[in-house]
Amino acid sequence: MEILRHAVVLVHLVGFAVLFGAWVVEAVGRRRVTPLMNYALLLSLVSGLALSAPWGLDHDPNYVKIGVKLVVLVVIGALLGIGSARQKRTGTLPAGIFWPIGVLTLLNAALAVLWR
Ligand code: HEM
Repeated sequence: MEILRHAVVLVHLVGFAVLFGAWVVEAVGRRRVTPLMNYALLLSLVSGLALSAPWGLDHDPNYVKIGVKLVVLVVIGALLGIGSARQKRTGTLPAGIFWPIGVLTLLNAALAVLWR
């Protein structure tokens, strides 16, 4: 059970790596949102929800932390949705939408690692 949980953590980390990596590529490039970011966010959500149940653990998960991470993920999802619609309509993406996507992604990773 524990090894299975670690495998899901690995999938969750892949979600983080792909989302943050896709954003960094854009940060040094065209500063757009891309479909890969949506897929990576979905992977983070599904694997994160699977990790939120108390299986393969000898203690209860930190539900307050999980709730905060879920809210942050929903905000990232909203920014991706609004950003994608904006860049389709106007051809550009406002900096106020692009930069928070990366900052909030890093915030969620920091919450996961630093809030024990
Ligand atoms: C952009 C979104 C997210 C990012 C970047 C992210 C990042 C991470 C990282 C880097 C870890 C590994 C921490 C470690 O092993 O020390 C982790 C673990 C975890 N995440 Fe996320 N996460 C995200 C969204 C979510 C969501 C939406 C949930 C739940 C609804 C969630 C629940 C969890 C849980 C339960 C763990 C395991 C913590 C543990 O067992 O110590 N995550 N996350």
